[in-house]
Amino acid sequence: MSRPCVRILTVLGARPQFVKAAVVSRAIAEHNRQGRTPSLHEEIVHTGQHYDAQMSQIFFDELGLPPPTANLGVGSGPHGQMTARMLEKLEPLMETHRPDWVLVYGDTNSTLAGALAAAKLHIPVAHVEAGLRSFNRRMPEEINRVVADHLAQLHFCPTQTAVENLAREGIIEGVFHVGDVMYDAALLFAPIARQKSRILETLRLQPKHYYLATLHRAENTDQPDRLAGIWEGLRRLSKTRPVVLPLHPRTRHALQQWGLSELADAASGNNGLRIIEPVGFLDMIRLEQEAALILTDSGGVQKEAYFHRVPCVTLREETEWVETVQTGWNRVVGANPDRIAQMTPWTPLEPIVEYGDGQAAGKVVAYLLQENSL
Ligand code: UD1
Ligand code: UDP
Repeated sequence: MSRPCVRILTVLGARPQFVKAAVVSRAIAEHNRQGRTPSLHEEIVHTGQHYDAQMSQIFFDELGLPPPTANLGVGSGPHGQMTARMLEKLEPLMETHRPDWVLVYGDTNSTLAGALAAAKLHIPVAHVEAGLRSFNRRMPEEINRVVADHLAQLHFCPTQTAVENLAREGIIEGVFHVGDVMYDAALLFAPIARQKSRILETLRLQPKHYYLATLHRAENTDQPDRLAGIWEGLRRLSKTRPVVLPLHPRTRHALQQWGLSELADAASGNNGLRIIEPVGFLDMIRLEQEAALILTDSGGVQKEAYFHRVPCVTLREETEWVETVQTGWNRVVGANPDRIAQMTPWTPLEPIVEYGDGQAAGKVVAYLLQENSL
């Protein structure tokens, strides 16, 4: 007789989700390796939201994430179109699979579509990285995460703040403070990155003598004044130390769209601002570990700066990761070129807030099993 099995359908599609899912998939594999009952069967559905090799395949190759059993190939497009295409393809797939859980991560359009398609089919949804709030509904991510949280049965929260955010919205059932799966990923892959990545040598960077920047959020790329402001700030900052900028394709397109590409061209002639293609996770961790300062509008990169003990400048007006600011490791400076250009590294106190114990993924798996048997 075959062992009883809990079936999980993971829906993902964007870069940060590959990192988060990698550690949970490992925890699932570990559970099965130990021969525990019931076993877990995970199938991964890739929506195709991100599709460039450097935005997708490299993460599967480097992080041991099992290959997706389906790629919906939705590609890029406006929010409604992209989400609708995902829904249209997810619905029959979920009807056929009828998993015990649909597992979604974070706050992208893939998260929204996965949660919505499952909820309409009465399939329970588990949301990893639940309860995050910026309280800014102009961000697509805020809408995605609010909806996903209200559709989910299980909410895996990275922080106590996230638990409290959910409680304020009346969500108190099925809420588990497990810690941050990205912290698990940072701990797991940090030594591997140190060993395997050659990015510092390739880019001829001296540890702690360069800054690292990333930029892709819609609130920056879709407003030319903000994009130009940040660009100008980074360009001026790069006269003090090299600034390495693995450029998200969205930002590359936005610079062209807004007629700002001459800024990028001018920057590439400037040795200080080093614009490169997006890098894989191991190279990214290596760049983060040895940066003197990180400047970013990414949610994940803000936390990784904290995990690797590098001060962070956030190129936004607010952040969901308030603990990093409260402990002095993160400064939210917006898009003002003068403020950005003046930034220098600082030495904060030892971090006092933890994002879990590095075992968040194992807890996600344990609660999925526990709740399934209720
Ligand atoms: C998405 C998420 C955002 C997350 C980010 C992680 C939503 C609403 N946004 O933003 O929360 O922080 O992923 O990186 O889901 N493109 C390519 N190649 C790719 C992928 C994208 O060229 O492989 C370009 C396309 O021009 C596309 C644009 O980037 O239109 C934006 O991609 P999209 O997936 O819509 O949003 P992101 O900005 O990546
Ligand atoms: N990342 C990466 N290569 C890059 C830029 C980012 O591997 O060139 C990783 C980063 O280390 C983090 C994740 O991608 O783990 C964050 O994704 P992103 O900034 O795209 O999205 P966000 O976290 O803002 O949703």
